[in-house]
Amino acid sequence: MKQRLNQCSEWFLERFPLSDLWNEHMAHYYAPKNFNIWYFFGSLALFVLVNQFITGILLTMNYKPDAKLAFDSVEYIMRDVQWGWLVRYMHSTGASAFFIVVYLHMFRGLLYGSFKQPRELIWIFGMLIFVCLMAEAFMGYLLPWGQMSYWGAQVIISLFSAIPVIGDELSLWVRGDYVVSDATLNRFFAFHVIAVPLVLLILVFLHIVALHEVGSNNPDGIEIKENTNWQGRPLDGIPFHPYYTVKDIVGVGVFMFFFAVVIFYMPEMGGFFLEHANFIPADPLKTPEHIAPVWYFTPFYAILRAVPDKFAGVIAMGGAIVVLFILPWLDRSPVKSIRYRGGMFKKALLLFVISFIGLGYLGTQPATPVATNIARIFTAVYFGFFLLMPLYTRWEKTKQLPERLTEQRTLEDRIPDAIALFDEVTIAEQSTNAAGATVTQRRPNPAGIKAVLFRFVKNLKESLD
Ligand code: HEM
Repeated sequence: MKQRLNQCSEWFLERFPLSDLWNEHMAHYYAPKNFNIWYFFGSLALFVLVNQFITGILLTMNYKPDAKLAFDSVEYIMRDVQWGWLVRYMHSTGASAFFIVVYLHMFRGLLYGSFKQPRELIWIFGMLIFVCLMAEAFMGYLLPWGQMSYWGAQVIISLFSAIPVIGDELSLWVRGDYVVSDATLNRFFAFHVIAVPLVLLILVFLHIVALHEVGSNNPDGIEIKENTNWQGRPLDGIPFHPYYTVKDIVGVGVFMFFFAVVIFYMPEMGGFFLEHANFIPADPLKTPEHIAPVWYFTPFYAILRAVPDKFAGVIAMGGAIVVLFILPWLDRSPVKSIRYRGGMFKKALLLFVISFIGLGYLGTQPATPVATNIARIFTAVYFGFFLLMPLYTRWEKTKQLPERLTEQRTLEDRIPDAIALFDEVTIAEQSTNAAGATVTQRRPNPAGIKAVLFRFVKNLKESLD
């Protein structure tokens, strides 16, 4: 039997370069040895992509892309199809998880300058993936044919009509009707299930090919290929397999724990992952009181609403994404990683993060005059971060780069600190229970919490200088 199997594998390998591919991209692919927690999100994005494909295929087996049947078919999946509820929640939670993972993955790029030369193309492919992902999520959200599916699509598609001259024709062409209708549902289904996933898959392939051509960046932002041994192997690199395959499996395990908690205990996430209004069938004659997109679109939606003119708002919203494409050419710093940048970049990044989260929150809320004004300030900060980048990254004084990768404390090294922190913010109190045994209970320690917060702010201030 074993001999037969060997013969089969030999036959196959003589005809297909599997060993070469494996060696080139896994066993002999050298990755920097100092990847930290931020480097989990690429493999997690791959994992979520696979989850979306599998659960998506299973959902398609019972879903009906017909305006009269769509809502009921989803209810049928939830109530009557065996494990249908699980598959549906894995897919809907997976959509939000995808954006959480991808936003963190992109943020890692900002932290360590992974978009900078020579990785501009990896970033561009990443941005194309991001745009496809938004299209995929937008079209997928119409499919349950609930109130928010319907009215969300109506609002977003009508944005096209703000474009001068061709606008009205264009939105009619996108919808395939004068209002969102069965025709819209059918074409969105085709795009969501076939066209966009195919493009996504191709883009992810190109993203990884581009990555493996230049090699990964790392938290120090220095090129490991510049220090090699006599065999030409990077001194600070380790083979991707087995080191990072095993590490990534641990990451996937931890991710699955949180993923399962959401699926089993809070699949709607209080209306953030699945909006309450979407449990009501679409009614073209009744507009919901408050139309808001799902959380991952809200930062861009808030930018749209912050601009008083509709067309200018559409331009600003598009601009907020376009500006990310040109990021590699806006950053003029001689260093990549935040560890060696000056205070200006760090402060700008902090303001950007606050604005992005702020916009995300405001996008979920009704547009009151106060909220709109705050959204305007955040929008200005958002664009300021990018458009002023050529100036502040050139002016600021950066730190000296090390020759080789630096040693950093690992998560395991930090466990004693975490225990000490827990001791500081809580007070242990001993008492005797009804059975006469001594029990220790902990309660919050206000003085300890104050001291920790004070230290945190002081450290943050120092690290921003
Ligand atoms: C389906 C979505 C995506 C998948 C599956 C994916 C996958 C990956 C993987 C597996 C890596 C290598 C591991 C790592 O560095 O974490 C990587 C690296 C990278 N990705 Fe993505 N990615 C996705 C989306 C994006 C997006 C939206 C961007 C940014 C716009 C992006 C930018 C980058 C960059 C710059 C690197 C190199 C990082 C470095 O070397 O430090 N990716 N990606």
